Amino acid sequence: MSQELEKVKQNVIKCTKCDLCKTRINSVPGKGNFQSDVVFVGEAPGRNEDRNGEPFVGVAGKKLSIALEEAGISRDDVYITNVVKCRPPNNRVPSTVERNTCQEYLKQEILIIKPKIICILGNTAFNSILGGSEITKFRGKTVRKDNQFYFLTVHPAATIYNQELIEVLKKDIAKLFDMIRELKNGKTIPVDIEYSS
Ligand code: URA
Ligand code: SF4
Repeated sequence: MSQELEKVKQNVIKCTKCDLCKTRINSVPGKGNFQSDVVFVGEAPGRNEDRNGEPFVGVAGKKLSIALEEAGISRDDVYITNVVKCRPPNNRVPSTVERNTCQEYLKQEILIIKPKIICILGNTAFNSILGGSEITKFRGKTVRKDNQFYFLTVHPAATIYNQELIEVLKKDIAKLFDMIRELKNGKTIPVDIEYSS
């Protein structure tokens, strides 16, 4: 791991900037390949993540792994993180204050990794990062904002009891990596939606 990213990780581990530090077992810093072309961003740790200190290690994580594997990608190839690094009690959606307080860590992760594209998993990340809503309407699409590319897809947890949505997640992730592979052939990422800052 890059030294800079290691520093962010240590700061997340000891962070007490919002009240979620009082109820967490472990903070959950991002994890994975700091040279990845893509950074995946979820909502917040759940129970298993809180216990282990690692992102997406529970049932939702399994769904994400399956979708990545089908696209020929190993989890270790990519970098996976969350908008909020500590588990909200009972897995409630993190509040605006919690998201705003925690966002500097995500910003730092992105500045260090400089991903070609950021894959937004679900509505909380969509709303926190781009101010968006209704991810099911926009999933499968790319966004460009301030010269950063984003790709929108559903949250892996939403696919747990929904067989149609797991197919959607698989299809979207396959499309994402097709676009990334095409970059190596000199193509650019097609822009579906342009956001102004
Ligand atoms: N859901 C998330 O959004 N993030 C995790 O790390 C696990 C489940
Ligand atoms: Fe710090 Fe983020 Fe955890 Fe709040 S959620 S204590 S800001 S790391």
